Amino acid sequence: MRRILIVNGPNMGHLGRRQPEIYGDATLDSLISAVKTAFAADDIAIDHFQSDIEGEIVHRLLQADDEADIAGIVLNAAAYTHTSVAIADAVAAIAKPVVEVHMSNVAAREQVRQRSLIAPYCAGTITGFGALSYFLAVKALIS
Ligand code: DQA
Repeated sequence: MRRILIVNGPNMGHLGRRQPEIYGDATLDSLISAVKTAFAADDIAIDHFQSDIEGEIVHRLLQADDEADIAGIVLNAAAYTHTSVAIADAVAAIAKPVVEVHMSNVAAREQVRQRSLIAPYCAGTITGFGALSYFLAVKALIS
């Protein structure tokens, strides 16, 4: 069984209550459960890690590089996407493929969200499809 690690950054744990007009009303737990269910038939296990703390995200990414059965990583670094050289460096440092995801279409939002420091080190970016962004990212990694 291959594993895919989904990493969510700051404020993503508040999904469901957080600006539902932008991020919808599903909780993070229900979103991750739905992704797990969708890919179980493909013999893909989904691991999930959420943290509001930059260094913990760096640590989890580096740790994943040593976990042989992790085939790739889906990363929604949330606001750290736009600010974190440390997370960008971690993505660059690891050998596992990383797909950047965003629920909202960051290209159509405030200017500060239009720059991603991590995108240059990712296999690709999926943005703007709400919860579906995560499904598409897992699909991209396993294809
Ligand atoms: C986000 C977009 C970011 O700009 C924002 O800071 C988030 C969520 C998204 O999934 O649309 O927290 O990554």
